Amino acid sequence: MRNVVAILGSPFSQSSSEKIVRLILDSLNSNEWTATVIDLSKISADDLLLRSKGPELDQALNKTIEADLIIPASPTYRATYTGLLKVFFDQMPPESLSGSYVLPVQTGGSPHHSLSIEHGMVPMVRSLGALVLANTIYAWSEQWNKDGSAGADLISMIQNSVEEISRLYG
Ligand SMILES: Cc1cc2nc3c(=O)[nH]c(=O)nc-3n(C[C@H](O)[C@H](O)[C@H](O)COP(=O)(O)O)c2cc1C
Repeated sequence: MRNVVAILGSPFSQSSSEKIVRLILDSLNSNEWTATVIDLSKISADDLLLRSKGPELDQALNKTIEADLIIPASPTYRATYTGLLKVFFDQMPPESLSGSYVLPVQTGGSPHHSLSIEHGMVPMVRSLGALVLANTIYAWSEQWNKDGSAGADLISMIQNSVEEISRLYG
C-alpha cells in the first residue's frame, strides 16, 4: 500500500478545494492507496505560528513527510495559496520532501490567477525537494455546475492527474 496525504489550506469547511481533493481520492484505487486528509483549519493556530508546540501538528508534519504522494489544496487568496498552507510548509525541515510526489490543487474566483500555482505552490514544494506532477489542478467558479457538482473540464483535469499518478506508480 502507498500513502497519500491531502492537506487542506482553506480556513473554511466544505471548501471547493476540499471537494476536488475528495474527487481525486475517490478516483484512486483503494486497494493501492491509504488516504489521510489533514485539515489545517482544525490545527491550533498557536502551534502553526510557532507560539506553542502540540502533538497534532507534529503528527501532521510526520505523516506528510512519510507520504508517497502529497496533495496540497488551497483557495487563491491575494493571488497565491493561503497563509494557512504556508505556515504549515514553513515548519518542514529542509529537503524533507525529497523524492515525494506532489499534486498541487488550487481554486480561485476567476481564471485571472491560474498561473499563480506555477510561481506559488510549485516552487514552494520544490524548495523542499518535492517532485511536482505535470497535471496540476487550478479550478475557478465557472468549472462548477449550478448544483455544486464538478463540471466536465474539472472532471477531465482530475482524470489527467489520476492517470499520471497511475503511470508513476503503475
Ligand atoms: C481573502 C480572499 C482573497 C481572495 N483572493 C483571490 C484572488 O486573488 N484571486 C482569485 O481568483 N480568487 C480570490 N478569492 C476567491 C477564492 O479564491 C475563491 O472563492 C475560492 O474558490 C474559494 O475556495 P475554497 O472554497 O476552497 O475556500 C479570494 C477570497 C478571499 C476570501
